[in-house]
Formats: sequence, structure tokens, C-alpha cells
Amino acid sequence: MTIALIVAAGSGERLGADRPKALVEVAGRPMLQWSIDALAAMGEVQRIVVALPPGTHAPPGVIGVDGGSTRSESVRRALAAAGDGDPVIVHDAARPLLTPALAREVTGALQRDEQAAAAIAAAPVSDTIKRVDAGGAVSETLARDSLWAVQTPQVFRRGALERALDVSEDLLAVATDDAWLVERSGGRVIVVNVSGENLKVTTPLDLEVAALLLARRSPEQP
Ligand code: CTP
Ligand code: MG
Repeated sequence: MTIALIVAAGSGERLGADRPKALVEVAGRPMLQWSIDALAAMGEVQRIVVALPPGTHAPPGVIGVDGGSTRSESVRRALAAAGDGDPVIVHDAARPLLTPALAREVTGALQRDEQAAAAIAAAPVSDTIKRVDAGGAVSETLARDSLWAVQTPQVFRRGALERALDVSEDLLAVATDDAWLVERSGGRVIVVNVSGENLKVTTPLDLEVAALLLARRSPEQP
């Protein structure tokens, strides 16, 4: 059976709200609750563990753990509290537009590729990406057709995730996603092209857009 880990322990500095980002209300629910509801609606998910800002109570129906000082440390703590289950869905509470269908696209891709250690939600980049030097001048324009912007959910075979997280705190601190920790040890990570709606709430503008998109959903829809 599948287990799901939601990392929600960040402070949300760039959002600048009066509380941790995951607890900010969006379209009538705390941001974290949208992701919990989506994952809880999946019959194949047997347990949900949430890494929370220290001192926060876990919402009903999930296991809560105190998050760590970095995102990957929060993932490691959540996995340690998860009990058995394989594969493992890792998701950011900062992406409240998650749906069961989207999570299933990613878990399905991992199931179909026996060689893969992980499958991750991603979208081809639409902007042209340039490398810029310290003086503010362009040093290189990258070939856009091979560039993808990576999201969560990221789904891992349990053993691969455990091995990937079994590294020093310094390495965990520089990992902006867990898939990188798998890649650096040679693991095969496949991308799943998902729609642009799965946006990440970082700034107040993102919060406004997410609220509009979530308000459009029917009340029963996770
Ligand atoms: N996260 C976490 N533990 C941390 C840092 C981040 O669980 N120590 C989680 C956040 O709660 C979020 C996800 O990782 O769901 C992605 O991080 P990000 O969007 O950067 O959120 P914050 O770190 O909260 O925001 P900011 O960087 O603006 O402070
Ligand atoms: Mg952060």
C-alpha cells in the first residue's frame, strides 16, 4: 500500500503571512488541508504523515511530526514516522491544487517503469532560460527543449528514498527536492508531464491565483 508524506513545516517567509504558510487559509480551508483531502480521497493511500511547524497540532486523520530545519530533514522525519508502506508519495503543502488524478498519474508512471526509482510531476519550461554571471550579463542561453520545471508530488520506491535520505545534514540542506538525492547516486528518475494548474504558493500573488482556482472546484471535490 502507498503512504503519503506532506511537508508543511516551512515558515513561508516569502509569503509574509501572520502564520506558517501551510496554515494560511485559501478558499475556505488551511492550505495544508487541501493536500490532505486530495490524498485521503485515494483508497490506495493507507497513511498520511505531515511534517508540521513545531508546536502545531496534527489535523484529524493524519500522523503529525515536528518538521526539521530544512525541507529534506522534514521529509526524513516524516518517513521515519510512517510505518510500513511502499511506494512513498512526497508532496509539498505549498501545492494545494493537488488532485487524486494527478497523484495517480505519477504513481502509475512509477509502476509502469520497473527500472525507475522515482517518478516526479513536472512541466516543460515555457520561458527561455539563460545563465547569468555575477556581473548581471548573460553567459549562456540554455536549450529549452530539454528543460523541465519540477514539482511535487514525487513518488519513490521506499528503499530508494530511504537510501537517498541517509546522507549528511549538509547534503540534505542543499537538496531542493528529494529526487536530486536519488539522481546523485545514479537512480533513474522519470518525469511525468502534468498540467500547469499544480502551482506552488510562494508569494502573495500565487496565493491569490490558487484561491481563485480552488474556489472554482465543487465543494465535495478533494
Ligand atoms: N518545508 C518543510 N520544512 C522546512 C522547510 C520547508 O516542511 N524546514 C516545506 C514547506 O512547508 C513547503 C515545502 O517544504 O510545503 C516547500 O518549501 P517552500 O515553498 O520554500 O516553503 P517555505 O520554506 O515555508 O517558504 P519560504 O522559503 O518562503 O520561507
Ligand atoms: Mg523554503
